[in-house]
Amino acid sequence: MSQQFDVVVIGGGPGGYVAAIRAAQLGFKTACIDATSNAEGKQSLGGTCLNVGCIPSKALLQSSENFHHAAHSFADHGISTGTVKMDVAQMLKRKEEIIAKNTGGIAFLFRKNKVTSFHGTGAFKSKNGDKYVLEAKLADGKTELIEASHVIVATGSSVRQLPGVTIDNKLVLDNEGALAIPAVPKRLGVIGAGVIGLEMGSVWKRLGSEVTVLEAMPTFLGAADDQVAREALKFLTKDTGLVINTGVKIGEIKVGKKDVTVNYVDAAGAEQKAVYDKLIVSIGRIPNTAGLNADAVGLKLTERGQVEVDDDCRTNLPNVWAVGDVVRGPMLAHKASEEGVAVAERIAGQHPHVDFNTVPWVIYTSPEIAWVGKTEQQLKAEGTEYKKGQFLFSANGRALALGEAKGFVKMLADKKTDRILGVHIVGPFASELISEAVVAMEFSASSEDIARIVHAHPSLSEALHEAALGCDGRTLHS
Ligand code: FAD
Ligand code: NAI
Repeated sequence: MSQQFDVVVIGGGPGGYVAAIRAAQLGFKTACIDATSNAEGKQSLGGTCLNVGCIPSKALLQSSENFHHAAHSFADHGISTGTVKMDVAQMLKRKEEIIAKNTGGIAFLFRKNKVTSFHGTGAFKSKNGDKYVLEAKLADGKTELIEASHVIVATGSSVRQLPGVTIDNKLVLDNEGALAIPAVPKRLGVIGAGVIGLEMGSVWKRLGSEVTVLEAMPTFLGAADDQVAREALKFLTKDTGLVINTGVKIGEIKVGKKDVTVNYVDAAGAEQKAVYDKLIVSIGRIPNTAGLNADAVGLKLTERGQVEVDDDCRTNLPNVWAVGDVVRGPMLAHKASEEGVAVAERIAGQHPHVDFNTVPWVIYTSPEIAWVGKTEQQLKAEGTEYKKGQFLFSANGRALALGEAKGFVKMLADKKTDRILGVHIVGPFASELISEAVVAMEFSASSEDIARIVHAHPSLSEALHEAALGCDGRTLHS
């Protein structure tokens, strides 16, 4: 006998768990099947984001930044600390506690909203009339058949493997291993100067590792605005101390007993050999569709293995939807969640809309990097005439008081209509500042709108205000 639900979500990450909560709020009998377990083998909801992604990485970034401040900038404030020591085990324990609080919070929200949670892997089995039959292989060894009127696939993504090397999470690490290194490695290699490589490289560099990042592309942070990417590269190499080699071609990787040797050809064409105590592989992620048994019901996948969906997250099958990392678009938690909410509301007959043009990007390095909308190079390529306003944090009183006066805010606005087309920030709390730009763009604001809004003084947001004034050539403090 199968259990019957209106909506079943496969995957309990920020796409899936949010979709399940919203579906339950809308009155649907809802279940979520999620495979992730914690160290004790218990279900740990929240997917990559809460278990081995966004939240633990930010916990370690904060710990390592605090360590760095105590060791290097407290003296500026007149605070003497003596020798600052890092207890890596305590840092990792704190990270685990934060994960447990967050994942436990999702379990609480499921109970509160009456979402039934299955701990195990879910796959399509067959169709029964209009309904879909799913098979859940549960962590306790049992198998459950579940019938659903609507299915939301939210199975997320996993690390892309580098050919010729196996991730063992001892010497060769993916994101999971990179978040759990038990002692500061002397020499840390990172393959891929993307978001994970830069964030995790920053953590271990601040704690004392020599970190070398090997990147295949000749350019650095190709998706970011060129000027921001150049500035970020300068800060990350000169201040943080990362060694970033772009334009490399990775060759043979040999895993020894205690270290890893990476052979590569550098940008100048010279053969190089580097030995690391740990090697992080962060060359992108691939969608989790292999375990879905998509063929059983004819669910269409793309050539890249994603579930094929339209703008509204509809698949080729009636009443089967897919959201988050498993579908096209940026692999970001907030994008996954918004898609999840929108799908639940569409199932309820509502007409929600996710604006993919205003999805913000944040990289939590020091200083932080954040942007929304078009870059200058994109505007040039599409022939859009624009004006720009820019303001340096070195002229912002709050940034100086914080001791974080690096970087700038840049606003790009349409030359004729003045509508804001993009905002690019490298600097302190860029992750928070970008929200004002997102709201403004969502309401089709002009740079003049931001220029006319009162911003608190002293605050970092004044830099955004000044950048808006700059679009009209009238910054006040530079
Ligand atoms: P996931 O979070 O991957 O969740 C999918 C869930 O489905 C998992 O629990 C998985 O076990 C489960 N699952 C898979 N297959 C099955 C199956 N057949 N049956 C049952 N369960 C299944 N994004 C940001 O926006 N900000 C950040 O700061 C950020 N930091 C990151 C840091 C790291 C180190 C990493 C790796 C990622 C980070 N991301 C960040 C990306 C973010 O984690 C993802 O975009 C987000 O988690 C995607 O959500 P999702 O729900 O689509 O999938
Ligand atoms: P990524 O796509 O950000 O970067 C991968 C990098 O590896 C690219 O620069 C790519 O050119 C390079 N690369 C690919 N193949 C290579 C090879 N063979 N040799 C050397 N370099 C190679 O992927 P990453 O860092 O693995 O992160 C995955 C996703 O997780 C990101 O795209 C992002 O969506 C998400 N994420 C988001 C964060 C945030 O929002 N702050 C933080 C961490 C991850």
